[in-house]
Amino acid sequence: MVELRTRYLGLDLPSPLVASASPLTGSLDGLRRLEGAGAAAVVLPSLFEEQLTNAGAHGFLALVEKAKAALRVPVIASLNGVTPGAWVEHAGLLEEAGADALELNIYYVSSSPRVPGSEVERRYLELVRSVRQTVGIPLAVKLSPHFSSVANLTRQLVQAGADGLVLFNRFYQPDLDLETMEVVPRLVLSTSEELRLPLRWIAILYREVPASLAASTGVHTAADAVKVLMAGADVAMMTSALLRHGPEHLRVVEAGLRDWLEAHGMQTVGHLRGMRSQRSVRDPAAWERANYITMLSGYPDQVHTEAR
Ligand SMILES: Cc1cc2nc3c(=O)[nH]c(=O)nc-3n(C[C@H](O)[C@H](O)[C@H](O)COP(=O)(O)O)c2cc1C
Repeated sequence: MVELRTRYLGLDLPSPLVASASPLTGSLDGLRRLEGAGAAAVVLPSLFEEQLTNAGAHGFLALVEKAKAALRVPVIASLNGVTPGAWVEHAGLLEEAGADALELNIYYVSSSPRVPGSEVERRYLELVRSVRQTVGIPLAVKLSPHFSSVANLTRQLVQAGADGLVLFNRFYQPDLDLETMEVVPRLVLSTSEELRLPLRWIAILYREVPASLAASTGVHTAADAVKVLMAGADVAMMTSALLRHGPEHLRVVEAGLRDWLEAHGMQTVGHLRGMRSQRSVRDPAAWERANYITMLSGYPDQVHTEAR
């Protein structure tokens, strides 16, 4: 029997498959279904800085308490914000409500031409320090991929007190409706094609930053989960696939992960973890390549034009 146990943020988990924040984790019914289907931990929807009227926060704290009472798996609360301030006290309230860990979701579009990237990063680091001082539970930071130096920022986030990194959040992007000519919300779920962004960064950061690593964006299948673990992730987080196929899809992914490990003679996920990180491959530069020159010399064989 293959052993899927793993550790993330110092928590012992029965498997590396975690349900990331989404409407599915926002109700007790959804949470129960996720746990029943094999989610090894659940991340609750983010409590947003701008949502922190008393009523808004109260509902969230109640959800943490109810989730803790109803589930056996760890419950990770999530806080979204960008500026340090009094609202950070809510991190402490989430801890008091029983959260096993906290995910700080720094999801923000910096749109002012007057604010340099260094200033945005400085605010994030100050925020992480401030939350770190407020809570004793493990702290993960969920990042967007849009930084000039992801590797340097993650190192600084860990120095500021992050125990784990969730790579990456996925920006929701508005669209234009050509009939009404209005800006319209458009929620598009991810596909496995998007996996390669977190895959690359996990491979690069594995053992380079002393933090737990969670892959988020594009984990849909067992093959996707195998890839992120092989690159060095401690856990594979899923949202779009569970919204598309329902929480029970976790069972399919877990069975596929077991089958893959067994077929490749591996008894534990520990055997798989990091075996193709940047540190362990013969050609470490392969994870850094971003230009087309060498790849296009093999055109058309190496270019996939068909939607899969
Ligand atoms: C409808 C919806 C709601 C989401 N809500 C949150 C949230 O509250 N907090 C958060 O950190 N991420 C949120 N996410 C992002 C997901 O947790 C996840 O990081 C993202 O969808 C990429 O993973 P995927 O490819 O598995 O979907 C949400 C995503 C969707 C689609």
